[in-house]
Amino acid sequence: MSKVRTEDLKPGLIVSEDVKSPDGRVILPKGGRIEAFHPMLLKGLGVTEVEADSGDDEKLLQAAADYTREFFSYANPDSPVLAELFLYATGLVAQRLATGWVPPTLGERMAQNVEHLSDVLPADEADPEKIVRHETELASFPESSLRLKAELESPKASIGSLTKLIGQDLGLSAKLLKLANSPLYNFAEPVESIQRAVTLIGLREVSTLALGMATINYFQGIPPELVDMKSFWRHSISCGIFAKILSQAMGSGMNPERFFIAGLLHDVGRLIMFKKLPYASTEALLYARENFVPIVAAEAALIGYTHTAVSQYLLASWKFPAMLADLINNHHSPKAAPDPRLAAIIHTADAMSNAVEIGAGRLYVLPDFDDESFALMGLPASGLAKVFADYETQAEQTISAFF
Ligand SMILES: [Fe+2]
Ligand SMILES: [Fe+2]
Repeated sequence: MSKVRTEDLKPGLIVSEDVKSPDGRVILPKGGRIEAFHPMLLKGLGVTEVEADSGDDEKLLQAAADYTREFFSYANPDSPVLAELFLYATGLVAQRLATGWVPPTLGERMAQNVEHLSDVLPADEADPEKIVRHETELASFPESSLRLKAELESPKASIGSLTKLIGQDLGLSAKLLKLANSPLYNFAEPVESIQRAVTLIGLREVSTLALGMATINYFQGIPPELVDMKSFWRHSISCGIFAKILSQAMGSGMNPERFFIAGLLHDVGRLIMFKKLPYASTEALLYARENFVPIVAAEAALIGYTHTAVSQYLLASWKFPAMLADLINNHHSPKAAPDPRLAAIIHTADAMSNAVEIGAGRLYVLPDFDDESFALMGLPASGLAKVFADYETQAEQTISAFF
């Protein structure tokens, strides 16, 4: 253990004693991780040095980097964006290692019994169109969601008509209010009615949120043993939060709710695959984990098509608004989207969400990243550290608003 001067602190370093201000307040507890903003903050508060075992920390960071690297090994190693993401994930892993976390072994990663699962359709006979038709013939998209969609597209929509429509669905109203009161919005006063939410957030914005939440409801019946739904939604909500922050960082006029919902629903094709091909999609998941390839590549290799091919048919048959469908269907291939600059937001948010998952010890492998589309967003890769910091302030509470 040794003292490190405040100005020499490096992001990722773990402190070995509570860092206190001169008046005794704990600023960073023992085991906490130094972030990029800490040197300046601590200096401003009058802290000149902190206790950290830099020797051990070096080893810890090395071990964290070795662990994290495997999850990044499939994606483009020269990407400046992925370099930022790698740094962030490594810092999180180092923090976990410092608190005694033991990384999962290959055996633990694979431990899942798939023999009880059977596909609704034989995997080799099912193409994306067929499995979507099987789904949409069985269950139609809920009536209330169709009306919300009509409302979203209607020039005659009003606060009154939308409030009434949402008010008919108590579950949906409750979820929307929870969301409006989450750090996602950070309103000074509590939002107590849908009418107030519509006034504060906007008519079209609340319609978009409501359509997204109704879509989530549609999938609520998937048995949890089929797939770990909690981790699926965690990744999805994280992606939504990142997409919203990124769109806001790109300037005004971006309709952040649109990106939040597109992020939230970006992997919706996987849900249909879980429902129709539980055996094949679990096998793809395990294959991805064993071989350190992203799920999208495992799907292509084992099933022959990916979840974005499925979402294409699904959202078309639900007549989902194109402004959302284009973003969702192209999240792995932003260049192919009608507007690659906008699709790049979901593409980047997905990658950032994966980095957070890896940092949390979950087993997500980064898919290929398209730096050219990212460049269209006009944000420097170095600016992503600030996006991660903003995310951290809202993530936990926003995610818990969904469960
Ligand atoms: Fe995906
Ligand atoms: Fe994803």
